[in-house]
Amino acid sequence: MICLGIESTAHTFGCGIVSDKKVLANVKDTFTTEKGGMIPSDLARHHEKVKDEILANALKSANLSMSDINLISYSAAPGLAPAMMVGLRFAKELARKHNIPLVGVNHSISHLSIGDLITGAKDPVYLYVSGPNTQVIAFAGGRFRVFGETLDLGLGNMLDKFAREIGLGFPGGPKIEQLAKGKYVELPYSVKGMDVSFAGMLTKALRLFKEGVPKEALCFSLQETAFAMLAEVAERAMAHTDKKELLLIGGVAANKRLCQMLNIMCKERNARFFAVPLEFSGDQGAMIAWQGVLQSKEAIDPEKADINPYERIDEVEVTWR
Ligand code: ATP
Ligand code: FE2
Repeated sequence: MICLGIESTAHTFGCGIVSDKKVLANVKDTFTTEKGGMIPSDLARHHEKVKDEILANALKSANLSMSDINLISYSAAPGLAPAMMVGLRFAKELARKHNIPLVGVNHSISHLSIGDLITGAKDPVYLYVSGPNTQVIAFAGGRFRVFGETLDLGLGNMLDKFAREIGLGFPGGPKIEQLAKGKYVELPYSVKGMDVSFAGMLTKALRLFKEGVPKEALCFSLQETAFAMLAEVAERAMAHTDKKELLLIGGVAANKRLCQMLNIMCKERNARFFAVPLEFSGDQGAMIAWQGVLQSKEAIDPEKADINPYERIDEVEVTWR
């Protein structure tokens, strides 16, 4: 089974090719702006412009042609509709032209599944920490369920905001990690059950900065406080679901201190810790292709293929585990 996966839910257009459990290609192009946010129509224009070249490069890098592809998968949910429509139309067109079965998959679940594939985790609690997302997820009762999440900002966005306000530029996460040292200053530690909140911590850190507390100490304290909160909720989810593995995913997984703290927590409870390497933790096509392989029996008529921009992960019936 050789599956071509097409990702287009947000800023990234990607094509990945997976053969059984092997990633043969993972080519992408991410829309960036000098200033300001992402406008959905700009994303669609970007994806439209790069799609043919990304596909050609993916096929080239796998040393394959379209006639070798047995299945096409695309990200059908959740995301920004104008961006997703480009992927949908492209997938349908290829499926029709080359007479290949088509399957739509959930983007968020694909992040989890590629994490399992790459790290070898079997049935972990997933800690998904990116710019906008901070979620604790696990498979329970036949579905993926969100056990806890941020009540306001995602952790990455909080770090980015702090960095921007104190003049460190974007993305802030890596710069904060480099600067983090010095004395701990107390910041609001906010955990409610398995939910977390970061807005109070950001406000207080910015106030302390204006009062002259050194940025190194603030970077250190933001990391220590926020990461301890994540370790607490991840541990609670592991205890609650009786799972013995933790899988960290999303851009913030690049942070060494976060990995170290989660690793210690896992060791103390005889569990295993896994972090997804950068290539497979952000948006890309290989995760869509692998999810396609998992759901290959759910291929649909290309004429009926559609998107579902608001689908939540617990709405998806899990047929492959
Ligand atoms: P999504 O795919 O969920 O929409 P995204 O577009 O934010 O997420 P990611 O690459 O998963 O993309 O995450 C980017 C975030 O990760 C940024 O907020 C960035 O600051 C943060 N980040 C990257 N490296 C580090 C690091 N070393 N420490 C802390 N945060 C980091
Ligand atoms: Fe994503």
